Amino acid sequence: MIEWSSTTIKAFQTTLLDWYDKAGRDLPWRHDHEPYHIWVSEIMLQQTQVQTVIPYYERFMAWFPTVTALAQAPEERLLKAWEGLGYYSRVRNMQRCARQLLADYDGQWPQTAAELSDLIGIGPYTAGAIASIAFNEPVPAVDGNAYRVFSRLLEIDADITKPGTREIFEQAISRIMSTDRPGDFNQAIMDLGASYMTARQPDTAHSPVKAFNQAYLDGKELDYPVRTKKPRPQPVDYVAVVTKMGPDWLMTQRGSKGMLANLWTVPLIKLTDLDVTTDDSAADLISAVRQYFKQEYQLILTATTLAVRPVTHTFTHQKWTIQLLQGQVEPAELAFFAGERVSPTDLATLPMPKVQAKIWDRYRQADPE
Ligand code: ADE
Repeated sequence: MIEWSSTTIKAFQTTLLDWYDKAGRDLPWRHDHEPYHIWVSEIMLQQTQVQTVIPYYERFMAWFPTVTALAQAPEERLLKAWEGLGYYSRVRNMQRCARQLLADYDGQWPQTAAELSDLIGIGPYTAGAIASIAFNEPVPAVDGNAYRVFSRLLEIDADITKPGTREIFEQAISRIMSTDRPGDFNQAIMDLGASYMTARQPDTAHSPVKAFNQAYLDGKELDYPVRTKKPRPQPVDYVAVVTKMGPDWLMTQRGSKGMLANLWTVPLIKLTDLDVTTDDSAADLISAVRQYFKQEYQLILTATTLAVRPVTHTFTHQKWTIQLLQGQVEPAELAFFAGERVSPTDLATLPMPKVQAKIWDRYRQADPE
């Protein structure tokens, strides 16, 4: 790691903030310094790009304009607001946090990163972002973006997948950051990381801070940040049975624990729960699925294959490959089925995960009607 002199630090702050004043992005959560606005945007931005987040953010604020509104929201509505963003535990935790604020803090946000970290779902990054942007506390906000930007500027060689590394970055950034405008400083770093200092194709030649970018000056930009390899997501095979009951769809709600908790999908069966292997014929698969419907749901299924490629979807730890079947069941009691018969008009009101949207898209490609 290199160390900057106080002159370099001052020059960096001025260059960065001048650039931010001219070229910083105009984003809806930057129109004021409301901690509620900063918090919602930061949670949304944790796994999703700015352009995708904007309409979600605006709808979220229309539906839940205050901490109180969020605390009182019915779960269905909450999940609907998050539909497509993924990692649904984030929005559930946001509601728990909203309730915690009302119950234990009189509805008032604490104003330091240290206190904000005690709130449900607020980790060190989010605490730093809220404290600096909403309350002007000079604390860093260290996420993947900050790791990338500062590891290049200062050639920080610490492995960002190791637990002690956050502190190394926090200390390095604390020395450098503006104490007058900490929120703008952190947001300028975010904008820099999204424009000139991207992961794969940085455009440092045009970057306002290229003279401060040691890794660039040494021709080693793409060596930073340093990280050990992530374990690969484990492959899991599924069959999705897009099933009609009369004019309606057969939809199942996932359990309240685990991946995609409480969200709705078409019946999804793990291949390992069926009496087949990936090498068996389509007829064998259909027969195994029929048997499964009979045994598990007490439903008589008629199914056919769909001439479309499988859907693939990667989660943090799993990669799903989903073969599609289309089926019909005779109208019957759903006593053994964790789901409902849903009319085409009601379908849109169910909270569904992104992987289900992909299943619908692929199903439509087969043009089954
Ligand atoms: N990424 C994370 N937080 C952000 C913010 N406040 N503005 C732009 N991009 C971000």
